Amino acid sequence: MTGGSYGLLDRDAEVSAVAAAVALAPAGHGGVLVVRGPAGIGKTALLRVSERLAEEQSVVVLRARAAPFEREFPYGVVRQLFDPALARSDLPVEELLAGAASGARAVLGDEPRSCAAPDSQFIVLHGLYWLTANLASHAPLLICVDDVIWCDEASVRYLEFLVRRLEGMAAVVALAYRTGEPGASDVVDALVSDPLARVVQPRPLSEAALGGLLGSELGEEVDPGFCAACREATGGNPLLVTELLRALETERVRPHASEIARVRRIGAVAVGPAVRQRLSLLGEETRGVARALAILGESARRDDLAGTSGIGVVELEDEIAALAGVGIVQAGERLSFVHPLVADAVRAALTAAESARLHQQAVKALVGRGASAWELAPHVVAGPVGAHRGAVGLMEEAARWALAAGAPEAAVTYLSRAIAELDPEHDPAPVWLALGSAKVQAGDPGARADLGRAIELARDVGTRARARIALSVVLFAAGEDARSIEILDAGLDEVAEVDPELAERMEGHLLSNIEVAGPSLVRLPRTIGERVTRARSAHKPRDTIAGRLVLCALAYEEFIGGGSAAEVVRLADKALADNELLQHEGPACTPMYRALVALIICDELERAAGKLTLALAEARRLGSPTAVVWASAWRSVANNRLGRLLDAEADAQAALGSGDQYPSGYGLTLAGIWLSLALTEQGRLEDARAVLDRVPEPDPPSLLTYALIESRARFHLACGDYSAALRDFQLYDRLEKPTVDLVGWRRPATGIINYRLHGARALIGLGDLDAARALVVEELPLARALGTPREIGITLHVAGLLETGESRIQTLKQATEELARSQSRLEYAKALCDYGAALRRANRRSDARPPLQAALAIARDARAAPLRDSAAEELKATGARVSRPGLTGVDALTASEHRIASMAARGMSNRDVAQALFVTVKTVEMHLGRAYKKLDLSGRTQLPAALGDRANPAESELATPIAGPTPTHV
Ligand SMILES: Nc1ncnc2c1ncn2[C@@H]1O[C@H](COP(=O)(O)OP(=O)(O)OP(=O)(O)O)[C@@H](O)[C@H]1O
Ligand SMILES: [Mg+2]
Repeated sequence: MTGGSYGLLDRDAEVSAVAAAVALAPAGHGGVLVVRGPAGIGKTALLRVSERLAEEQSVVVLRARAAPFEREFPYGVVRQLFDPALARSDLPVEELLAGAASGARAVLGDEPRSCAAPDSQFIVLHGLYWLTANLASHAPLLICVDDVIWCDEASVRYLEFLVRRLEGMAAVVALAYRTGEPGASDVVDALVSDPLARVVQPRPLSEAALGGLLGSELGEEVDPGFCAACREATGGNPLLVTELLRALETERVRPHASEIARVRRIGAVAVGPAVRQRLSLLGEETRGVARALAILGESARRDDLAGTSGIGVVELEDEIAALAGVGIVQAGERLSFVHPLVADAVRAALTAAESARLHQQAVKALVGRGASAWELAPHVVAGPVGAHRGAVGLMEEAARWALAAGAPEAAVTYLSRAIAELDPEHDPAPVWLALGSAKVQAGDPGARADLGRAIELARDVGTRARARIALSVVLFAAGEDARSIEILDAGLDEVAEVDPELAERMEGHLLSNIEVAGPSLVRLPRTIGERVTRARSAHKPRDTIAGRLVLCALAYEEFIGGGSAAEVVRLADKALADNELLQHEGPACTPMYRALVALIICDELERAAGKLTLALAEARRLGSPTAVVWASAWRSVANNRLGRLLDAEADAQAALGSGDQYPSGYGLTLAGIWLSLALTEQGRLEDARAVLDRVPEPDPPSLLTYALIESRARFHLACGDYSAALRDFQLYDRLEKPTVDLVGWRRPATGIINYRLHGARALIGLGDLDAARALVVEELPLARALGTPREIGITLHVAGLLETGESRIQTLKQATEELARSQSRLEYAKALCDYGAALRRANRRSDARPPLQAALAIARDARAAPLRDSAAEELKATGARVSRPGLTGVDALTASEHRIASMAARGMSNRDVAQALFVTVKTVEMHLGRAYKKLDLSGRTQLPAALGDRANPAESELATPIAGPTPTHV
């Protein structure tokens, strides 16, 4: 059909809408175009128009068409989109796939990676997203996906991921889909509901348009009644009109009133019968090729088609020509049907047995040319069970590929099939284990049952132990601490006898889980607690990686057991030596965080922050959101204590902000807790309250509960709400008391949390000094046993507040002397402030000034507003003059602005910053824009001078390219 805009009838409005959407790409605005409607209404035709419009404006077009029976091919659509683009010689492919985009190689490379990282799904998405962004910054993009409702799940995830980040990218995503198909809405809802989406719904052709068309095609004037009959027969649906025209021509029907009856008879042509009729006129060989193509799917290779239909490559060309001649096949370098409805018609005519046989043929053809497991797998799956020798191995291999490519659902399909293919000799447990692990990644709740099966069926202890570890991780993440601990506990003894190394790995997870379960340990059998005691007294070398997992937990145990900081640090250092644990186990290794937290507790803040920065860099390199959240949340604590409140805030914000795709509940709770603490210290109490309100109370209680109480109690103290702070202390007390001495835990929570001291402060506020004193008396020996200047200093600080006169001055002085040797700058400043105040009250004004000045300087630097104000007040009361720095310049920057400006000042491009922080380039631009305004700058070249030594030091390690391997030494 010809005529109308871009050869389409009745599509002026639709074409202008499409044109407006396409124009967004070269203008640098992202956009989504959705074309939808019933079968044959002209959606694909409109997508073609969008492609032509794009090409006219030098927009690069990536296109793909999804097909129902190809849903089993993970990333099928993504590969259709990118493979041709990456083969183009005019694009710098290496550059496009560098850095954060490198994750895309798992999908698009010739050699799919075979090892699955914990967050491989996200890594690949992140990679594909950046590949798209890189392409778009090279030339504007139009990404066309036709029939998107049949898109494989992995590709849908990519599209969703992309669509949510399109703003400000020179890329338009154009999607078409048929309405009225079952299950359609689930797939496209998320894509179509995007605020950027512009929806176009092509309408049926009008009678006028139809009349014109019939006239030009049939070469005669058209009788109005005839035209109306045609319109009625087809509903104005262009596809049906096309088919009707074909029939009218074959049957030599003229457009006269007398022929209306014949039109009605030919009438409601359905595409299926029409296609079958056309096929029936062709030879059996030709029909065989059509059927083989229906099995192979979109863009089939010629050799695969020849092999599957069982004819020679030379003869194949004749058959293709015959099929193209009757409008069934579209021949190019690769082969496809002209229209999905045509493909459907051919496929619908296949019996189940025929289709199974053809899939088997396809397997043979593909094996013959050495196709990879992932290409073969869908055909094996579609064929009968037991038909392909080596199916189990093949399915396992395809599953490994799918996992590495971040398509866990496909891995689940393949491994389920592997299980169906198992023969009695085959050990089923490793396959169940693999299936369960794949389901973990796919977020499939069936994971537990499958891992349970693996445990039950395992013929060897090793598989059983690995299945137990995997199941325990699932249960633990779901908050079922107790079950997860029990599962590990139940298997530890048998594995210890046969595989000591695997046993240590299991033990490391077990002990670390016990520690995190914290107060909930009281609900578990005593024998479990004895594991801790035994591990402590085992005195094994723990030099292997598995051994170090145990050491991590032991470092933490040493601390809760009442040991000295020197010993805790020695163990933690040994566990974390040379960052080998990070390299082997990855940045999401839970036991590793126990050792890192132990370092923080022992006031080794710089070191802990450095190690967390490395973990963070590695997490970013891998694009692992779970690990980003963990490392950021804990670095937030280190920064808080170091008196870098802005960094602490930015870390916690980064943790919360990066979790939008696959949030890790545990880590996000932690990040919320520490964010509110950073805000409280800055005196931003309303913000802190808002954050705290959103943090869920852990149920059952765990170590997180302690952290939450810490943050909440400090918030209440800052608000002067002593009763609320005391309630928190009492809650803490209720949780902690039963666990004391449970496994020789002497200070179950002291250190990361200082409840007794907060409790004492609350009691002081309420005027109950005796009770406060009792708490300090309890705390002091614990602090001395740990022996860090921080713990001793902060305890003496509260002790000093309980005294009067000269002894108050002396104790506070001692506290400042201790804290001067600590890395906890804020605590030092707080003690200095109270010490200075005590001196001032004793009328020793000139003695009071130096500590108050020092406190003021630290508080200002840290942005600890309440402390800054108290120090300034006290200082004024000594008669000293205090200058008040205004709220402009660097001080006016928010945490995020400050961080992004610092990174930009260090020469990182907006794209680098966006990649490192997991945000869009647009967000970076926005923050920088606001920073320029506040700093009164005209551009980034002035940033280094404007920030000076106030640039963010904690990010400095990340200024080096994040795509490289992790350095071995800090
Ligand atoms: N406005 C139009 N004017 C003339 N011909 C048209 C028009 N729209 C579509 N056609 C023709 O009608 C046929 C069906 O159109 P198209 O393939 O675009 O439909 P579709 O909506 O994509 O169908 P499906 O739901 O099956 O994918 C094609 O041959 C196409 O060229
Ligand atoms: Mg179509």
